[in-house]
Amino acid sequence: MAILKIARMGHPILHRRADPVADATSYDVAVLVNNMIDTLADSGGIGLAAPQVHESKRIVVFFVPKARAEGDDDEPPEDVTVMVNPVIEPLGDETELGWEACLSVPGLMGAVPRHTAIKYSWTGLDGQPHSREANGFHARVVQHECDHLDGILYPMRMEDMTLFGFSEETNQNAELIAAARPDEEEFE
Ligand code: NI
Repeated sequence: MAILKIARMGHPILHRRADPVADATSYDVAVLVNNMIDTLADSGGIGLAAPQVHESKRIVVFFVPKARAEGDDDEPPEDVTVMVNPVIEPLGDETELGWEACLSVPGLMGAVPRHTAIKYSWTGLDGQPHSREANGFHARVVQHECDHLDGILYPMRMEDMTLFGFSEETNQNAELIAAARPDEEEFE
């Protein structure tokens, strides 16, 4: 078990395209994934992408807390999902605004437009292909994490910078942002 150091916005590893993984069943990948899961649990986040722990590889771990997906037309997976070389395909043109936070952008939160519904595919640690459809918060988490693999942090997706700020401040600025914010709980 190891808790890995998390890179913060501005570190070059967060702003480059991560490399594809040739063998999802390799020992090195298993060790990295175990350490990512430990780091995610320690941080209190919801998802973590390998570049955030200074490994420029296309690997993501995430889970969807039940409380966050309530009200969505979706039944998210209950366990942690480990994805190697994930690919996202939007389902339809609809987008929605929702609040996001990120372990690499500590203390801040912002309202980010994301595709409402997606299909996503990946290679599992078993080396086999997997895919799911997702909407709402589940779809948002997957899009946020996969963006990390392309060097994109959520502030780079934002269209209204008045909906970006320190969590402690925006929590008090309820009137300005109530329309865009479903709740104030952070996710990775
Ligand atoms: Ni993030």
